[in-house]
Amino acid sequence: MSGHILVVGSINMDLVVRTERHPKPGETVLGTQFQTFPGGKGANQAVAAARSGGKVKMIGRVGSDPFGETLRKGLQENRVDTTCVLTTPGASSGVALITLDAQGQNTIVVASGANALLSPQDLRDFAPVFEGASILLLQLEIPLETVARAIALAKLYGVKVILNPAPAQPLPPNLLAQVDYLIPNQYELALATGIQVVSLAADALHGLGTPAVIVTLGGNGAFVSTPEKKVHVQGHTVPVVDTVAAGDAFVGAFAVALAEGKDLLEAVEWGNAAGAITVMRPGAQPSLPLREEITAFLQNDRRK
Ligand code: RIB
Repeated sequence: MSGHILVVGSINMDLVVRTERHPKPGETVLGTQFQTFPGGKGANQAVAAARSGGKVKMIGRVGSDPFGETLRKGLQENRVDTTCVLTTPGASSGVALITLDAQGQNTIVVASGANALLSPQDLRDFAPVFEGASILLLQLEIPLETVARAIALAKLYGVKVILNPAPAQPLPPNLLAQVDYLIPNQYELALATGIQVVSLAADALHGLGTPAVIVTLGGNGAFVSTPEKKVHVQGHTVPVVDTVAAGDAFVGAFAVALAEGKDLLEAVEWGNAAGAITVMRPGAQPSLPLREEITAFLQNDRRK
């Protein structure tokens, strides 16, 4: 595959508070540290792909506020082409309120802001950007009809589609059928398909026409399913500081590996390595690894 990786998705500012433990409903707990990081599943995956060595273009929306400018600059500093990132007058940029507990586990609430205004019409204006792409990367922090239109444009131009169905939601079978690589976690897979058992859900997706399902399992690696075989790719044991964006790191690095012609399992190894490096560092985009870090991590693979 040659050509750029196109990301159509969300761009958020992450407002992160560290706390010993997450509060229960109705409870107030005191946090220990507050930080802001550029985030958003779409933007994180764009940066992850660019740092992994991909040529990346992004379509999205930011607000006409100071966060919007900071987020755009952050993408540009990471060599993501932002020509198709629109500034939305009168809208706030997407914001994610994140709490991180002592184990690095997170809870996230997103106020979509400008992301919710990325419309199918916006994509029609950017159709030429789909033409030269090899892979389209999608998530679910923008309207579903925009995701559907992006898939339709990708099909028109022969672009492979990767969907990371996060945040979790039920998805129409005709949309799932057009995805080439579905990358959910277990919860997202169950909600997307309505089927609880991972291998049964994967088989149902293959029946619809989805050729590859890669279920991310955190530190336990990934379960890879195609109509021909099912494989568990082992994870890495690393010290966890912050799990935010680990899934995004996986998706971005996986996409680059595929675009470079690596086979499915090699691409999953790349994704696993990128995710493992990411959880060892704080923040969303600042934690995403460079290509050299992924290759060095795989060379020193302690599982062998
Ligand atoms: O996947 C992590 C991301 O989810 C965060 O950066 C946050 O912005 C939310 O979109």
